[in-house]
Amino acid sequence: MARLTLVRRADDRRLTDDEDWWRDATFYQVYVRSFADADGDGIGDLEGIRSRLGYLELLGVDALWLTPFFPSPMVDHGYDVSDPRAVDPLFGDLNAFDRLIADAHQRGLRVTIDVVPNHTSDRHEWFQEAVAAAPGSPERARYLFRDGSDFSGSRPPNNWTSTFGGPAWTRLPPKMNDAGQWYLHLFAPEQPDLNWDNPDVAADLERTLRFWLDRGVDGFRIDVAHGMAKPAGLPDMAHPIEVCPGLLGAEVVDPRFDADGVHDIHRMIRQVIDKYPARMAIGEIWVSDDAAFARYIRPDELHLGFNFRLLQADFDAVSVREAIERSLMAVQGSPAPATWTISNHDSVRPVTRYGGGEVGLARARALALVQLALPGPAYLYNGDELGLPNVELPDWALQDPVWKRSGRTERGRDGCRAPLPWQGSIPPYGFSLSPGTWLPVPGNWGGHTVEAQLEDPNSTLSLYRQALELRKGHNAFTGAELEWYGAPPGCLAFRRKGGGLVCGLNTSGAQVSMPLGQVLLSSGPLPPSGDVLPPDTAVWLV
Ligand code: GLC
Repeated sequence: MARLTLVRRADDRRLTDDEDWWRDATFYQVYVRSFADADGDGIGDLEGIRSRLGYLELLGVDALWLTPFFPSPMVDHGYDVSDPRAVDPLFGDLNAFDRLIADAHQRGLRVTIDVVPNHTSDRHEWFQEAVAAAPGSPERARYLFRDGSDFSGSRPPNNWTSTFGGPAWTRLPPKMNDAGQWYLHLFAPEQPDLNWDNPDVAADLERTLRFWLDRGVDGFRIDVAHGMAKPAGLPDMAHPIEVCPGLLGAEVVDPRFDADGVHDIHRMIRQVIDKYPARMAIGEIWVSDDAAFARYIRPDELHLGFNFRLLQADFDAVSVREAIERSLMAVQGSPAPATWTISNHDSVRPVTRYGGGEVGLARARALALVQLALPGPAYLYNGDELGLPNVELPDWALQDPVWKRSGRTERGRDGCRAPLPWQGSIPPYGFSLSPGTWLPVPGNWGGHTVEAQLEDPNSTLSLYRQALELRKGHNAFTGAELEWYGAPPGCLAFRRKGGGLVCGLNTSGAQVSMPLGQVLLSSGPLPPSGDVLPPDTAVWLV
């Protein structure tokens, strides 16, 4: 298998051989709380990740994306950051981070991390200062404080809703000379939005980026990269959206997101990153309009944009093909390749989304082969390589703020965030020394563990390992363009122009004839005759 060559420079630990390593890399999202727990408190941590780097190397991914591990009250599990330049003691400390980066690089794995520039935690010292200060003060000007829209100040400044449910505004209690101003939070009330018109805010993000770049990170995932800037005057939403579970982008024009000013922020970010060789940034961009999406990946903005079309597609050939074609179209004329993902910590796991049980698993495996056949970077979510389903959690276990904010009508995202099963036959399957994990692990996951799957050639883990090895080492996987083949109803087939890999997918209920070629890999068993592709199956051929 082709490996990244490590080129060590005298001054640090970075991989420097390929400026554009991210163009066709396979990224693996580590949901830090749930990957591996080394200190036995039932919550994953940095040392836990370090202890499992051998697994990630074996799996064959190129780079990691670590979800936030910064000091945080954990209202939104780390996406409420109270200090962006430190490590929360739950997860370790800066030394643990440095050790993780050094060891990952030693193994040829790049490390990218989340940054959360749209908002802070309400425990961030800036917000604490703002609450203590008076309306109109410089402290308040770092956030979006406004007076109420009516005479008494008791109506919110506009009709914006929070992505997690309820109004996007919370009012401070009245004080002397202060009727009680409102502050904006597009997410939970504990996540106040920053005021990006304030130069302090940009300067602070720049400091944060440099801080981690200097420590050797290879890139960033920019949280809510379509947020940050807000339109002048904060105009009302034409159609307030109640709850947006899973944060799926709305199809309507939404003044809360994608304001023009956001692009200046991305230019600033790019200028910082460009001072460091071989680093990158990908933005979480929930915009439905292709032209709007393309603006984020102009040459002086983000290197990559998260593209959620495949994740949003049904298990249906027409829907999958449309998602692929639209994704490719959206990046045409921009320097960035399309990115591909079918899963993350905000969405229902593919096995469950595609129907659950054996059928759901077969379909998730098939979609994984489609994803990994496509040209450009692929983002995997930890546990998908084990075929994990979503977990049905009892009410008492739910922690996602969506649950509470929606008035307990939306169960939120905890179901895809359960701790990973590593070995053994009882929970928590080697994830932690402690039986009490932050989210309960199902009692029937013994067959899902890494240990149970590693030596089984038919396991989902083996499928991912083979797929990643081929994707990285086989010359069929070159060429940025696709050509589509005619395919029976419910099926699709494309060929990568260049290397010539053919990928076929059967989402119909019946077997169909196999596309021509020699089979490299299939997502499920093929009949011995070799001339048919069963339902819920994808195949790679050359
Ligand atoms: C992003 C994250 C999500 C988080 C939200 C607020 O969408 O992926 O998990 O809740 O931002 O920071």
